[in-house]
Amino acid sequence: MSIQTEAITPKTEIIPSQSLENSLNRKELSPSFEGGACTLRQMIAIVDFGSQYSELIARRIRETQVYSEVISYRTSAEQLRQLNPKGIILSGGPSSVYDDYAPACDPEIWNLGIPILGVCYGMQLMVKQLGGKVTRAKRGEYGKAALHIDDPTDLLTNVEDGSTMWMSHGDSCTQLPTGFSTLAHTSNTLCAAIANPEKKLFGVQFHPEVVHSVGGIALIRNFVYHICQCEPSWTTEAFVEDAIREIRAKVGDKRVLLALSGGVDSSTLAFLLHRAIGDQLTCMFIDQGFMRKGEPERLMEIFDRQFHIPVEYVNARDRFLAKMVGVTDPEEKRRLIGHEFINVFEEESGRLGPFDYLAQGTLYPDVIESADTNVDPKTGERVAVKIKSHHNVGGLPEKLRFKLIEPLRKLFKDEVRNVARSIGLPEEIVRRHPFPGPGLAIRIIGEVTSERLNILRDADYIVRDEIANQGMYHDFWQAFAVLLPIRSVGVMGDKRTYAHPVVLRLIKSEDGMTADWAKVPYDLLETISNRIVNEVKGVNRVVYDITSKPPGTIEWE
Ligand code: XMP
Repeated sequence: MSIQTEAITPKTEIIPSQSLENSLNRKELSPSFEGGACTLRQMIAIVDFGSQYSELIARRIRETQVYSEVISYRTSAEQLRQLNPKGIILSGGPSSVYDDYAPACDPEIWNLGIPILGVCYGMQLMVKQLGGKVTRAKRGEYGKAALHIDDPTDLLTNVEDGSTMWMSHGDSCTQLPTGFSTLAHTSNTLCAAIANPEKKLFGVQFHPEVVHSVGGIALIRNFVYHICQCEPSWTTEAFVEDAIREIRAKVGDKRVLLALSGGVDSSTLAFLLHRAIGDQLTCMFIDQGFMRKGEPERLMEIFDRQFHIPVEYVNARDRFLAKMVGVTDPEEKRRLIGHEFINVFEEESGRLGPFDYLAQGTLYPDVIESADTNVDPKTGERVAVKIKSHHNVGGLPEKLRFKLIEPLRKLFKDEVRNVARSIGLPEEIVRRHPFPGPGLAIRIIGEVTSERLNILRDADYIVRDEIANQGMYHDFWQAFAVLLPIRSVGVMGDKRTYAHPVVLRLIKSEDGMTADWAKVPYDLLETISNRIVNEVKGVNRVVYDITSKPPGTIEWE
């Protein structure tokens, strides 16, 4: 596929580091010039040295209403200058500046005249490259520490003396470079915050971005507003305005195809694109037959009739069901469904086309996170850590010959929701629980049949209906039912029953990466259980899944 990302590939390799590449576990982190950086108003660049917190720094900056992007440590000073950030943050990282392949930034960045804040490893690198001294501490400092402020100006304005900050470092700065002074210390670290105010270079040994750092947000705001002189320009309205202009400029009079799933990402895309290019957009909804009760009808109603965004409805239920005959292995199910989706998509896009662009709901975390590799900590080798092969309508293969348009690729999920609201998506879509691409097929353990689909659909409806009745829908990340292929004995109205059990899965989570089973009132479980056993033929037992993630995953397959 001719993917059109106008990302810069750094010309100069600053310091190649295989081990860092491994620990980064990231796709190429190049500035995204999608649509032209000039439209980004003001931005803070986050130079990533492999920190688990780089994305969090980006989020924190954006929460101050200033745009931020994570870029590779290999980005040259010249490329950074072209990006024209108002400020630069150097992230932490797993390395020590003494490691053989310790990653380093282009030393020319100190001369750009752009304010820089080094965080943890970023600060140590600043100290080392500018002629100070970093020493391996006898005792590392991990966890909370009280920050004693020596100079409450600039970076530490409004940060209270004695504030708790989150520390996580083995090395320490033991001699400052020329022109630097200490702003704060802890009982264990003399240089916990440093500055060269004249050159607008700052460093903190702690992590202001993590939630445990009290006053961390104030520090970040000081950097963004006082030191970098940013204005709050990253707002939902500004994004929508820019996105519409960029879409129009990119698409011109060409046609765009969008695979709509009814989830918040593809729905937001549909609204945004429709507003930008009207009937040059074709939305296609492939009904594979694994949606929840009433969902396909509701989707057509909202888009087609309520908002007058035409949707091509493709009924492919029989085709998908036919593929499921005799299939019990979860990965095989996922593979077959994904494959069939592509087949149907290809056929239907051929019928409705030709199209020039395919709209994809790629989000910012997809851009900065590698999906399918990880590192063996012993050998440093990349190893596959695929737990499940995720499928969603965005994951179309490269052989489909479309140019891509990805208007949401700068956004985090919560930012997508804000955009969705601002352009008028109904709350039922904006706050809908996540639903996996393969749908109910991976919530039926064992073979998927139309009878089992009907049973699960009815049981699942009751779960959602009851928690909505109790006003609890938004208390959960997800709340659903899973159908087991086994049967057990029960008794109803003096008669023996031999039917399927249904598993309730009620989940609390921030992001789906980790999750807790929800400690709900017994009354709620009882009502759901009674309703399912009484109203759904084929089910005589309801059990509650009390497994968190990890070790369980949220979905059963
Ligand atoms: P697991 O089961 O891996 O799920 O703990 C984490 C989150 O991802 C959702 N999920 C999917 N989403 N396509 C998707 O778009 C998929 O194939 C898929 N599989 C799981 C799941 O519902 C949960 O929110």
